[in-house]
Parts: sequence; structure tokens; C-alpha cells
Amino acid sequence: MSPPFFFRCINSDCGRELDAQLNIYECPECHDLLDLVYNFPDLDPDELKATFRKRRQSYYPLDQSGVWRFREFLPFEKGDYELAVTFGEGNNPVIDAPRAAEYVGLDSLSVKHLGWNPTGSFKDYGMTIGVTQARKLGVSAVACASTGNTSSSMAAYAARAGLKGIVFIPEGQVAFGKLAQTMEYGAVTVQIEGDFDAAMQLVRELSSSTGIYLLNSINPFRVEGQKTVAIELLDQLDWQVPDRIVLPGGNLGHSAALGKALYELRQLGLIDSIPKLTIIQASGASPLHSMLASGLETLRPFTSARTSATAIKIGSPVSWKKALRSLELSDGWCDAVNEQEIADAKAILGRDGIGCEPASATTVAGLKKLLEATHKEDPVTIHPGERVVAILTGHQLKDPEYTADYHFGKLELDSRDGDSREIESKFSNPPLRVAPDIDKIRALLQL
Ligand code: F0G
Repeated sequence: MSPPFFFRCINSDCGRELDAQLNIYECPECHDLLDLVYNFPDLDPDELKATFRKRRQSYYPLDQSGVWRFREFLPFEKGDYELAVTFGEGNNPVIDAPRAAEYVGLDSLSVKHLGWNPTGSFKDYGMTIGVTQARKLGVSAVACASTGNTSSSMAAYAARAGLKGIVFIPEGQVAFGKLAQTMEYGAVTVQIEGDFDAAMQLVRELSSSTGIYLLNSINPFRVEGQKTVAIELLDQLDWQVPDRIVLPGGNLGHSAALGKALYELRQLGLIDSIPKLTIIQASGASPLHSMLASGLETLRPFTSARTSATAIKIGSPVSWKKALRSLELSDGWCDAVNEQEIADAKAILGRDGIGCEPASATTVAGLKKLLEATHKEDPVTIHPGERVVAILTGHQLKDPEYTADYHFGKLELDSRDGDSREIESKFSNPPLRVAPDIDKIRALLQL
């Protein structure tokens, strides 16, 4: 009997198939990335949609999770469900952002805010699955390299599962909210004198020499959990496929996952068209955009990535081939925006009452750029009437320093690397100063 799911090397010249219960993340033959591939049983798409909806009314913990609710698309069998490590993640609403829509030049814009997850970022969607698999494999320790959010999420889920968590972070380049979470959840935090890409390389070496379970998105199980972002979104939209989904790009695991979800949803007949995926990178850390813009076939890493959106300060994204596949599947594109554009877009989202961390604001900045006639060189045309969903990935309070600096007019580009360049705080809203005198206060407030 064929297994319900297995690993397959993504390299079509290799295509090696392997047992999904092996503690591996790359093909032993050609060292390319691995996919989890399903032998899906015959499933009626309408029944499946009805099941997903019915589970929303259930108090069963797996039904209350916006990841496990979609378990037909996850690499576990019934007997594994009691191992699930869940905080009831997901369930993040889709909301309108009218001021941001006007700012970018769209008739309307929806955002799905994944920062409203248990640890404040989208990583929880993948981590519940990754840590559950770690528990299934019986490992005692899990590890990751991170720009901050993966580490906070892994630390929390590892604590929940009683596993030792080890995180590698680039010293001085992780927003404080994220570092604070990681320490609180009891993970061993190793600060590397180097950037994320160096930390990633080290943790890969550590895990292959020790068997410690690696929980970066290079791990196919992480990608499977992350997929449910797209499934949940389509469910929330009552399966009306939007024209475009815009998301930030860093290590590119999220882009890989959303493309895979859309592929499988179409394969099983839950949708019959695919929204265009539009990945936005920070220009100082945009190797995928550079590759596409220059028509190259292979990605050239940025040796020294730069951006104050520290979550996506990554020069050598491990999942770029899978992300490229997502773009090919969806007729999508990857663009890049500068620091000023990111900072302003974040402030505009704030005007809609929607806070997010800088990396998430690349989505709105990217939309504005693509809708502006001045950027005609990009091979993407967005029409103002398109139905667009922007995926916001991290909570505003992950990096409050960035927000405060913007509003106080003190934000500088990548100041940690010494090459400071001030950002113009076009939409700042600093506090007013006034003497403790009611008349002066009334005059100031024009009341
Ligand atoms: N947005 C936020 C808030 C992130 O933390 C990340 C990645 C991304 C977007 C990009 O997602 O890597 O899948 O392309 N953060 C990772 C981390 C790298 O370590 O927390 P991606």
C-alpha cells in the first residue's frame, strides 16, 4: 500500500522519494530541498468545505486551531492527533484597510493579520506542525536560526511540548520584543557575531552533526503548517479566489508554502483558479527580486543584506527555489521596496488602526509601487479594481522601537551597521508638549 505522504526531492532531475519519518531536510543524493507529497484519498471538495466550516463550531482543540482544522492537508494520521502541540493558532481575521487602499491606489484592500497569533507572528502556523513532528520523532531538542519571530515561536511551542529549544540569532539585529519572548519561554539563546545567513549555516551544520531537529522553514513539516494560511484565507473568503495575494519575502518559506497550498487546493478541486502571488522584499535584502529583474536563472545571494525591517534582513534565502515555483504556478512576481517606502506604508496602515512590524508593511509599500505609473519597468500591472489581500506577518509590538523612532522623527536606515541615513517621517504623529495649564491645553487642542 502506498504511504499517505512521503518526501520527494524538488529537483526534477533527481526526484528521489523518501520516508517522511526520516529526520532530514534535504535530499541525501543531490542536497536539494524536499517536498512533502500526498497520496490524497478521494475527497469531495464541497464536503471538505462543509467539514471545515462545521469544525468552526466545535470545541475539540484541533478544530479550534486555524491550522489543524484543515488536517486533510497535513502530514499526520488520526493516531498522531493526540501528539498535537497547539495553542489554538490561526483564526486571524480578514479585514478592510480603506486608508491603505486609497494610499496605494486600489478601490479596496483586505489584510489578513497573522501577527494576531499566540506569539505575535505567522510562524505559529508552521511551528505547531514542526514541533508536533519533533514530538512524534521522539527528539529531545529542537533548533533554529532566526531573525526573531521563528525563534519566539519555536521557543513557545518547544516549552509547551517539554522540548529543549536552541535558537541562533544574529547579535544586535533582532527586535527586542522577539528576543524578550525567546528568553521568557526558556530557550537557550545563542547570539552569533554575524548575520542571519551565517547563523542559518551554523544551525544546519549543528543539526546534521547532532541529530537535533531543525525547525527552520527548510523543514518540510514547517511548510505544511504554513500552508494553512492560504486554506484559511480561502475559507474566510467563502472560496471566492482573490486576484492577488501580496506577502513579504525573507527566507522565502512563507512564499513556498502559500504556493504549495494553492496548488493542492486546485488539485483537489476546492478552487479552480490561482491568485497571483506577489512577494515583496526590502531592497537591501532582495536577491529574488534581483534575480527576476535581471532575468537570471539562479539566485545570487546578497553578501551583506541591509534593512531596518530586521525580520527580512536575509541575503541568502534557503527556500528560493520553492518560492520561484510558487511564482511560476501563480503567474506572480517579486518586487522590492526601499526603507522610506516601508516606513511610510507602516504608518499608513496605522491610520487604519492596523499595527504591524516593518517587514509586514512591505506589502502595502509594494502595492503602491506597483500601482504607480512611474514603475512601468516591472512586468506586473495591477488594476485599481483588483481584489487584493495583503498578508501582514508580525505584530506591531514586536518592534516598538522602530515605530516610536518613526513618530519621533529619529528613524535611521540600518543604523546598526553604521551607514546611517535618516528616514523622512512623512506621516508622523508625535506627542504634543504643553504646560500643565487647562487654558493652554484647550488652546492647543483648539477646543
Ligand atoms: N515577516 C516577518 C514578520 C518575518 O518574521 C519573516 C521571516 C518574514 C516576513 C519573511 O518570511 O522568511 O518565510 O520569507 N522571519 C524569519 C525568522 C526569517 O527567523 O523569524 P519568509
